[in-house]
Amino acid sequence: MTIGNLEDARKIYYFHESHNYKVPPGWSEIGSGGTRTAYLSPDNVVYKVGSSYINVREAKASRKFRAQKHWESHDIVIPRARAWRIAGEREVEYGRNHVVYVLAMEYVEPQDMAYCKAQYGETCTCRKFGTPRVCVAKAFEYMRQRGVYDMFEDNCFIQDNKFYPIDLGCLNQGLRL
Ligand SMILES: Nc1ncnc2c1ncn2[C@@H]1O[C@H](COP(=O)(O)OP(=O)(O)OP(=O)(O)O)[C@@H](O)[C@H]1O
Ligand SMILES: [Mg+2]
Ligand SMILES: [Zn+2]
Repeated sequence: MTIGNLEDARKIYYFHESHNYKVPPGWSEIGSGGTRTAYLSPDNVVYKVGSSYINVREAKASRKFRAQKHWESHDIVIPRARAWRIAGEREVEYGRNHVVYVLAMEYVEPQDMAYCKAQYGETCTCRKFGTPRVCVAKAFEYMRQRGVYDMFEDNCFIQDNKFYPIDLGCLNQGLRL
């Protein structure tokens, strides 16, 4: 099943390029990182604008990972994503002229990241005290082994005790997609 639609992808792309401050009615700006700005559409789909190159990689990574079954047993859920092509628009990135793509992704409700000492080389406490919870340090490591190197607090959320990486764009260049 696909995610997002071309009409909304185009709408938010032209808004983003217009440098207006007021987002279109029903939309909100929900975050930004080093390369992209993320907007939430009226029907609860995230659209990322700002790097076509990363958007295409993220869509490919999502598709590739979602076809693999092993994530589930590690309490990791890969959100659906799709890159929508903005016909007639191009941008220069990394010295190359690209067709523009906007990324649509399933929205993941932000929740507090469970802090784990194992992130800092100490012993993991996630499964020792209170209700067992998904271990962020283990999830980071698991993602890293599969080529996703920049997992940190801004690039993932925990929801219903599942780990959701929401930024799959910055993959190791060596990973074949
Ligand atoms: N699927 C999503 N659900 C909810 N929030 C999201 C989602 N995707 C992105 N966001 C929010 O938007 C912010 C920016 O998105 P993202 O991390 O993908 O951009 P980026 O520019 O690639 O980041 P980076 O600097 O890590 O490369 C995230 O930190 C997060 O707060
Ligand atoms: Mg990010
Ligand atoms: Zn832990």
